[in-house]
Amino acid sequence: MTVIPAELMAELIDEEHRLLLHKLADVEAVCPELDVQGDCTACTVGEPEACIDRVTDVLLDLLAYFVEHFRYEESLMKQFGLDAVAKESCDRHREDHGQIAEGFARIIADLNPTTVRPQISNLIALLRRWLDNHISSHDLRLKELLAGG
Ligand SMILES: [Fe+2]
Ligand SMILES: [Fe+2]
Repeated sequence: MTVIPAELMAELIDEEHRLLLHKLADVEAVCPELDVQGDCTACTVGEPEACIDRVTDVLLDLLAYFVEHFRYEESLMKQFGLDAVAKESCDRHREDHGQIAEGFARIIADLNPTTVRPQISNLIALLRRWLDNHISSHDLRLKELLAGG
């Protein structure tokens, strides 16, 4: 079996974060009027429903990427035996993954035809905030642990 160095693992984590941020643009692209129009009142009949279908598809796809990324990080914790050196930090990191995935799934379930536009805006802001907070408080520590610190 090929042994992949920890530094490369840390680099792969960064690469995945860049991909996740890039994928947020797919969500923004679902509604071209997002910056111009704050809500769905000017949309024609049936448009918000079609919008929800598109948003749901894009979000389910994005959620799958998030979950896959979380699994990857958690597999690194296991592979490098990090629970043995920093159990509490790994536990809090896994908990935060679970909370992000749950919150994300709840947002998808709550999409509503009269408010889908503001919901998309709020969602993008929330995902950006989640990523920023999670990366600075948990993923950074994971990379330190992978580097032996
Ligand atoms: Fe993470
Ligand atoms: Fe991450």
